[in-house]
Amino acid sequence: MSIDDSDACRSKDLQAPAAAEFAEFPASWYRLCSSDMVKPGPFARKVFDRRLVAYRRKSGEVVVMDAICGHLGADLGLGAVTDDCLECPFHGWKYGSDGRCREVPSCTTPPEFAAQRIFPCQERHGSIYFFNGAKPTFPLPFFMDEDPQGYRSIAPRRFEAPCTWYMVNAHAFDVQHFESVHGRRLVEPLKVDVPAPFARRSRYLAEVLNNNLHSLLLQRLVSDRVTITLTIWGGTFAVVTGDFGRSRSRFFVISEPTSEGHTMCDVAVFTPQISNPVIGPILAPLMLRIRRWLTTGYLQHERAGLGTPRYNPHSLIEADQEMVRYFQWAAQLK
Ligand code: FES
Ligand SMILES: [Fe+2]
Repeated sequence: MSIDDSDACRSKDLQAPAAAEFAEFPASWYRLCSSDMVKPGPFARKVFDRRLVAYRRKSGEVVVMDAICGHLGADLGLGAVTDDCLECPFHGWKYGSDGRCREVPSCTTPPEFAAQRIFPCQERHGSIYFFNGAKPTFPLPFFMDEDPQGYRSIAPRRFEAPCTWYMVNAHAFDVQHFESVHGRRLVEPLKVDVPAPFARRSRYLAEVLNNNLHSLLLQRLVSDRVTITLTIWGGTFAVVTGDFGRSRSRFFVISEPTSEGHTMCDVAVFTPQISNPVIGPILAPLMLRIRRWLTTGYLQHERAGLGTPRYNPHSLIEADQEMVRYFQWAAQLK
């Protein structure tokens, strides 16, 4: 179908950005690995178009830096942690927690240029997160007004979405797909706001339709109404709550763009701590496992059923206006 200015459905007032306007790897928080992979390390993997390494100092503090040694390119992930430094496996240069080279075995003073790029990082709920930038522009996200200490989590599950990070996160504002894909019919208009710098939030009350087994079970066993809140931090880090009245689900979908233009999605679920010392240690891990299975299954089902969606700023219509606003917001974050 050709689209021109006379198309009644076309969004007339809002212009979606060109694909080139989005950052390839936005300044945001990402999950590097599980805490237990860095004890003391090193642990390295490819992230974006580079390789990062993490190691742990004696104090327990984690350090994340570029893994490719600035001397002749050996992989620091294959090195060793000595004297609170990361030692390159090739010529033994030792890098400290500020990234500066502290020691070169063959000379008394390390050369001025010898420094690895450091990434701000934080460890929480058994995961190591890093910020893709010199200094975080916003704190590591969590559920609004909640204390992370009051929650437990479990090892996240990862899947690959065959589209860009901004297509993944536009789902939070994609009113048309709530019903067709998720079986959630809006009861009132979508509410969108910016609750903090670098955060864009959508909230809606919806009727749960019984168009698949998951929704049917929810509708029959839990509730036929749900209030969903999706807060997208930095354009990429989705913090999601689903309030079903008697039950609440809380999870993150952390997008990590790949150099091939796809997105790795880490799904991390959370449940409140159970203070009862007898049933807590049994019940909490069980509830987390069930939540992780349900949430990951729900998201993977969506991914598998959509093929390979592609961004097209010229094909958006009036009903996509909240998505267009998200695209505009995400493109200017950089
Ligand atoms: S390549 Fe790392 S010290 Fe030479
Ligand atoms: Fe979706």
